[in-house]
Amino acid sequence: MTEKTAKLTYGDMELELPVHTPTVGPDVIDITKLYSQGKVFTYDPGFTSTAACESTITYIDGGKGELLHRGYPIDQLAAKSHYLEVCYLLLYGELPSADQLEDFESRVTNHTMIHEQMMFLFRGFRRDAHPMAIMNGVVGAMSAFYHDSTDISDPWQREVASIRMIAKMPTIAAMAYKFTIGQPFVYPRNDLDYASNFLRMCFSVPCEDYQVDPILSRAMDRIFTLHADHEQNASTSTVRLASSSGANPFACIAAGIACLWGPAHGGANQACLEMLKEIGTPDRIPEFIARAKDKSDPFRLMGFGHRVYKNFDPRATVMKQSADEVLDLLGVENNPTLQVAKELEAAALADPYFAEKKLFPNVDFYSGIILEAMGFPTSMFTPIFAVSRTVGWISQWKEMIADPAMKIGRPRQLYTGESQRDYVDIENR
Ligand code: ACO
Repeated sequence: MTEKTAKLTYGDMELELPVHTPTVGPDVIDITKLYSQGKVFTYDPGFTSTAACESTITYIDGGKGELLHRGYPIDQLAAKSHYLEVCYLLLYGELPSADQLEDFESRVTNHTMIHEQMMFLFRGFRRDAHPMAIMNGVVGAMSAFYHDSTDISDPWQREVASIRMIAKMPTIAAMAYKFTIGQPFVYPRNDLDYASNFLRMCFSVPCEDYQVDPILSRAMDRIFTLHADHEQNASTSTVRLASSSGANPFACIAAGIACLWGPAHGGANQACLEMLKEIGTPDRIPEFIARAKDKSDPFRLMGFGHRVYKNFDPRATVMKQSADEVLDLLGVENNPTLQVAKELEAAALADPYFAEKKLFPNVDFYSGIILEAMGFPTSMFTPIFAVSRTVGWISQWKEMIADPAMKIGRPRQLYTGESQRDYVDIENR
């Protein structure tokens, strides 16, 4: 915090507002006393210029295409670290020592099973339900199963809820998948690493041996790592707002899952692959580019554009390399969808419309291609995003609950409806 101030002149009032200087990034004008002192609100739908909280977890510089977790660049973490180490970093603020990592991995591993009674919840859904709908319901219901970790005023319970959520989310996502394809649930195996265990729970069946391919496991782990956190995005802000009322962590993460599902957010990876398939062949790319530019057509290039990144999305760069590697290793380097994706990216980047609006491929542009090559149906793309992002949601939730300045989130509004009027009896309307 500094002693800088900003002056706001409004009518015949002049208000002096404190200005906070972050470690990196633009200064932040503190307007918390604006209403009490000036009887005026600010208006910022979509939070394009509003910092809703103070945080030490993740930093994004959209202009430079930079994403840092606790100061560490995402490309270094993707190349040198792995998902559970990044989880530790996000949750506790520092990279773990070897002993700390071993202890953390063992705590997560020992919570991978879900309460047996939860199986009945899965069985209550229709088989054709979207796995996100199932996850949303089942995660919300966790508060009915884990009563001993719903007291948010107890730091120990908060810790247990965090570990449970990170550990059980792959199990829940895999069970949602198995249920929708009519296969038996596969229980977690605690001798496998996080990503391998998830792949096994999704793809093994009781009648055959299943060996997890280490290359696919590494690719899966990288997808988890790249999606682990992204500061105050829509689903994270949803989790923060839901928890500001004191709601239990399982209910709050279920709210985050609901928000993530939308096609402008986590649903974009499914929508992107469906779009690439609809385009089908490179000769149809100009038609789709023209549609994306046509203001009378609601169509947008899915996997393109980002609220914050206005240069490039550093996660997309790693994801593109990963797509090449995985498809090469699987022997599907001539994948027609990858071909369409690469040509579409080149065509869009060469088009002045996308350049002027600073629209670049985002993380979702290539992730679907990798996931499909691994054998996942498009309906599992967003659930996998939800598994990865759980640690981000939980870390931000923990940070918020521990913050003594926390208060219930309660935005104001610019009211443009009727002013007060008298009720009219029905016979006189
Ligand atoms: N295709 C075509 N035009 C686009 C696209 C796109 N993908 N994205 C933005 N634009 C245009 C808009 O039409 C708008 O044009 P205008 O200024 O002439 O009205 C301009 O670019 C700015 O777009 P906004 O929607 O105002 O930008 P915003 O920051 O609100 O939206 C968003 C960002 C939602 C990601 C948007 O780019 C989009 O819808 N992209 C497609 C969906 C997608 O890929 N989402 C994943 C995001 S990453 C994630 O959640 C992991």
